[in-house]
Amino acid sequence: MKLNNYINGQWGTDTGADYTAVKNPANGKTIADVRLSTADDVTQAVAAAKAAQKKWARVPAPKRADYLYEIGRIMIEKKEHLSQVLTKEMGKVIEEARGEVQEGIDMAYYMAGEGRRLFGETVPSELDNKFAMSVRAPIGVVGLITPWNFPVAIATWKSFPAIVAGNTFIWKPATETPMMAYEMALIFEEAGLPAGVANVVFGSGGTVGTAMIEHPDVRVVSFTGSTETGRRVAELGGRHLKKVSLEMGGKNAIIVMDDADIDLAVEGILWSAFGTAGQRCTACSRVIAHTDIKQELEQKLLEAMKGLTIGDGADESNKIGPVINAKSLEKISYYVNVGKEEGAKLLAGGNTLTEGHYTGGHYFEPTLFTDVAADSRLAQEEIFGPVISLIEISSLEEAIEVNNSVVYGLSSSIFSRDVNKIFQAQRDLDTGIVYVNAGTTGAEIHLPFGGTKGTGNGHRDSGVAALDVFTEWKSIYVDFSGKLQRAQIDNN
Ligand code: UN1
Repeated sequence: MKLNNYINGQWGTDTGADYTAVKNPANGKTIADVRLSTADDVTQAVAAAKAAQKKWARVPAPKRADYLYEIGRIMIEKKEHLSQVLTKEMGKVIEEARGEVQEGIDMAYYMAGEGRRLFGETVPSELDNKFAMSVRAPIGVVGLITPWNFPVAIATWKSFPAIVAGNTFIWKPATETPMMAYEMALIFEEAGLPAGVANVVFGSGGTVGTAMIEHPDVRVVSFTGSTETGRRVAELGGRHLKKVSLEMGGKNAIIVMDDADIDLAVEGILWSAFGTAGQRCTACSRVIAHTDIKQELEQKLLEAMKGLTIGDGADESNKIGPVINAKSLEKISYYVNVGKEEGAKLLAGGNTLTEGHYTGGHYFEPTLFTDVAADSRLAQEEIFGPVISLIEISSLEEAIEVNNSVVYGLSSSIFSRDVNKIFQAQRDLDTGIVYVNAGTTGAEIHLPFGGTKGTGNGHRDSGVAALDVFTEWKSIYVDFSGKLQRAQIDNN
């Protein structure tokens, strides 16, 4: 199967252009070939999106929203199919894939609702017989660059607010996971979205991403991925005065206080650290444990980790799927060695799994380090795999300091039964998302998603905040006095 671009409502054909193989991370088998597009393809897609945008912006927002309701409906109809494809190309276990597709469906309905809101403000004017208001105006053509770890949900966080607000878009999905973009393009087509509103261009970040960011008609770039790439996107976008929204790395922590429900904390840690094989930007990679419960927590974690079955995510009995590719495995192994060299104590895991039914796949054992120094590389750098670093602390103040000592600021969590500690923590944890008595993952689509410091650049996906990325504020003053009233002139 060859995946070609979807531009201006048309599917590209095989012109003998370059393709690259898409592989199932569970077994290394090729499942499709995807087009490696050129800068010319981007130019064509942007032209189509630009041509469509003026008309699209004039479609009343509640009518634009009707397309989203239809997209949501089709996604429900195809939910199982989409989930199976998602597991096949990305590796996450099937129940998580279903959860991710559901996140996309929820976003479709939520953003469709925005079609009847898109609230602006009305304010009293300083002057008599004058009316003042602000409205959200679409920006134009937007460029979306999405990662492989949530190939459908994150794309919906960006594309749905973009179109309900009256923009058109070019979407470049990660080269590892183009099938979900292909499936979504089929859905856009089936929903009858006008040609040019939604365009999918496959290919590398270096070629397609760069061409998109540099194109003068792409006014907004919304990116989710690594901090390293995000910085390049911002630099390039900045040079062209683009609005650039970035969602990047994390080094998220769960704090377990001495008064916590330890069994609950263990469940939260397991789910947040090893779900999606640790490849969520919200994944828990640090556990900050109070001295008084440290041993008990370690023992219970070790016990619970024994029950984690690893294997092909398509098999319902597996709890942890493969990581995305060989490069990712290498990075995880590299950090395990860094941890050992830094003197952290490896309590469990630490190895790649290659034999028997793991052959051809990219599997890594759930790994637990303890006695990790808060300032060590193991505890500071993003690994993006199933590795926990346990750090010991003796007070809430110390826990908060350790949590905040990393360059990232996406998600954090505290397990405690003390309402005072909880409220202090939610105030002082320097992250965009804080959980109380729950793990670091599982953000809901109707609140802002994003983080502080190295995680982002002040923008947010999801929630109403997403509309800020894809709209400009327009302030409108209507003077109905019939005479020239001069504002900012002292009339008294
Ligand atoms: C991501 O890892 O990039 O909060 C997104 C969560 C999910 C989204 C994760 N709803 O874990």
